[in-house]
Amino acid sequence: MYEVARRLIPGGSQLLSKRPEMFLPGGWPSYYASAKGITVTDLDGNTYRDFSIGGVGATVLGYADPNVDNAVKAAIDQGSMSTLNAPEEVILAERLTNLHPWADMARFSRAGGEAMAIAVRIARAQTRRSIVAVCGYHGWHDWYLSANLAKDDALDGHLLPGLDPAGVPRSLEGLTRPFRYNDVDSLKDIVSACGEDLAAIVMEPARDSDPDIGFLEGVRDIANQTGAVLIFDEITAGFRINTGGIHLTLGVNPDIAVYAKALGNGYPISAIIGRSAIMQAAQNSFISSTAWTERIGPTAALAVLAAYEKKDVPAQLIKTGQSVKQVWHDAASHTGLDVTVSGLDPLAHLNFMGDDAQTQRTLFTQEMLDRGFLAGPAFYAMAAHTQEDIADYADACREVFALIASAASTGSIEGRLRGPIAHSGFKRLT
Ligand SMILES: Cc1ncc(COP(=O)(O)O)c(C=O)c1O
Repeated sequence: MYEVARRLIPGGSQLLSKRPEMFLPGGWPSYYASAKGITVTDLDGNTYRDFSIGGVGATVLGYADPNVDNAVKAAIDQGSMSTLNAPEEVILAERLTNLHPWADMARFSRAGGEAMAIAVRIARAQTRRSIVAVCGYHGWHDWYLSANLAKDDALDGHLLPGLDPAGVPRSLEGLTRPFRYNDVDSLKDIVSACGEDLAAIVMEPARDSDPDIGFLEGVRDIANQTGAVLIFDEITAGFRINTGGIHLTLGVNPDIAVYAKALGNGYPISAIIGRSAIMQAAQNSFISSTAWTERIGPTAALAVLAAYEKKDVPAQLIKTGQSVKQVWHDAASHTGLDVTVSGLDPLAHLNFMGDDAQTQRTLFTQEMLDRGFLAGPAFYAMAAHTQEDIADYADACREVFALIASAASTGSIEGRLRGPIAHSGFKRLT
């Protein structure tokens, strides 16, 4: 089916992270027939337990969560679309602003990247300025990719190196300027270069690790001094460490925060929340879409928030992430395989080391697949992962780490692969 897709769909998929080449070219199951809990069934009826990126980080509760699905089914039965508005969006705005006492208002869209585009539009409308300082990955829209117009590698080190700005108008060059995480001076350089024209500072408050002491406070001070709008992208970090943004734990509030992914447990919903003085500027611009008014998205989000009220989902995600990190550490010390482990606990990363790291990573995925696991260099925890699942994953990891270590010692890792090495980052499919 993926061969057909590559003929009919440019790039084969709608999302870079779902391209099979990113995991195991020619060997990754690629398509699913059903998904429930952490179990994914492919089109040939093979089942796998998902210890990879859990619906690209969207399904924190697990696949086809019964409470969320029942709420959505009820919304469908009551009519998911109408000429009138869905009341769920008002209730959701109330819930999210209650969870974030610094925020007064909310707008909703359906995807993460478009929500970031809305946040940046609001910031530019409110400040009547143009330049955006940016750190990290924030989607595919022109405002963001234009950073790569200035210098081909401007976004390198911002999660996805090599993103090509083809199709982004040259005239946007210089409007979005990258700064480095934990490096306030790199932000100060942008401030000195753009004078009074800094509209927004856009960043994830934390992604791979917690910020250095004083970094977020330093960024907040610069936003206060310059009048730029501080936008925290919580699309991936949000609703994993606590019920809301990770910034609530880190103790620094933005002017706007953006949520998606976990908020809908896989149903499309994204939220832009912020201080009213800034959010009101949405009325000075034109920000409006039919698809943002349907009922399923906000209904799913309310059901997710209800699940967080019933049990401490973030505590479970953190514990599961810590256990999986420990599995990797233990398997590495048993087998002597050289790996490092990083990432926030619920968004854990396994890094194979050495010159043939990418080959090792590919072999890991191939062998784990043979043992019934979707697995790669990242593990995104879901509340549906059980202790038993983790124990079985640990057994498989020990076996596979041993196999990779022994292949590495004889220089035969590539020979063990049944197909090509996985792609890393952005690569055009020819
Ligand atoms: C931090 C961050 N911002 C923005 C996005 C884009 O969101 P979406 O893929 O829903 O457009 C992502 C997606 O991975 C993300 O991790």
